[in-house]
Amino acid sequence: MVKAVVLGAAGGIGQPLSLLLKCNPLITELSLYDIVNTPGVAADLSHIATPAKVAGFLPPDEGLTKALTGAQLVIIPAGVPRKPGMSRDDLFKINAGIVEGLATGIATTAPKAFVLVISNPVNSTVPIVAEVFKKHNVFDPKRIFGVTTLDVVRASTFVADIIGDLSKAPDVVVPVVGGHSGVTIVPLLSQSSHPLPSGFSGEKLNALVNRIQFGGDEVVKAKDGAGSATLSMAYAGAEFAIKVINAMKGQKGIIAPSFVHLTADPAGGEALKKEIGADLEYFSAPVELGPDGVIKINPLGKITDAEKKLVEAAVPDLTKNIQTGIAFTKKSN
Ligand code: NAD
Ligand code: LMR
Repeated sequence: MVKAVVLGAAGGIGQPLSLLLKCNPLITELSLYDIVNTPGVAADLSHIATPAKVAGFLPPDEGLTKALTGAQLVIIPAGVPRKPGMSRDDLFKINAGIVEGLATGIATTAPKAFVLVISNPVNSTVPIVAEVFKKHNVFDPKRIFGVTTLDVVRASTFVADIIGDLSKAPDVVVPVVGGHSGVTIVPLLSQSSHPLPSGFSGEKLNALVNRIQFGGDEVVKAKDGAGSATLSMAYAGAEFAIKVINAMKGQKGIIAPSFVHLTADPAGGEALKKEIGADLEYFSAPVELGPDGVIKINPLGKITDAEKKLVEAAVPDLTKNIQTGIAFTKKSN
């Protein structure tokens, strides 16, 4: 029996993500919470012939509490998306308060749930969730995840495209580490399961790295004011959620990059900090998942000099973004 909850379920990501979760037979209960429209989205999804019992909740009347009661997995895509010309950090002003409020609800109602944070800026919203959980004395770093899977999905797709065989996209694995914005997104293409063609280096390689780092901007620009990635994010969010559920149910050897607090695996976290050469509290690293969340934070391993430079370049923004999230929560206490 798995109860999953989507907070922000009526939005551009929330609706297709809820559809994908409803289609997964491992989920037996699906609660949808938003400030608008969840009764309609829930009624619609509830007609799909899969096991999950679907219910929609709204504020006030304890809608959030009712949605979260008994939850094992909570996914948060609530918040405003970017428009052309904006950075993810520009969303902080609005989304920080939204995420803080929702995290308070989770900390008080479902403190043991796995929390998957999609709302941007992820590098700052994950620290907000963690600080709220600390305030309520329920912080477990093994259970709080920033969802960076879309960067991994993009890397797989773009590499398959370059190889000239998109049918390989689902099998291409490229670790993408660091964080989830611009230069903090660090694809480790040298570790791609499917090597790039010989001679794919220099400007071509730089352009591919840049496309993965700024894939979000590509979509924001194409949508021309109508928001940011929603469908690919729903796909990525569902993929990560299913990995977490499979691990929860005892499947072994599941590894996926995610933005986590590095005390989730103290030894692995310390080793990673040495590799990065910076005392960061959070980093998106390939983590091994188990029934209680993070089992192991894997090292970056062998990377090229160019990739070392990308990791170095990610550190200042990551440091600033993490501090911004922590400071916000301290200030609002
Ligand atoms: P959207 O505006 O379409 O949907 C957001 C939903 O959140 C809306 O339905 C809104 O009513 C709801 N909401 C607002 N305040 C709420 C609250 N207090 N409680 C519950 N629900 C609330 O936006 P979207 O396109 O779905 O994007 C959502 C967020 O996800 C944005 O911050 C976006 O930047 C982020 N995002 C992250 C990634 C990633 O890779 N992590 C990818 C794409 C988008
Ligand atoms: C993305 O990577 O597509 C998301 O973070 C949304 C955005 O603002 O780019």
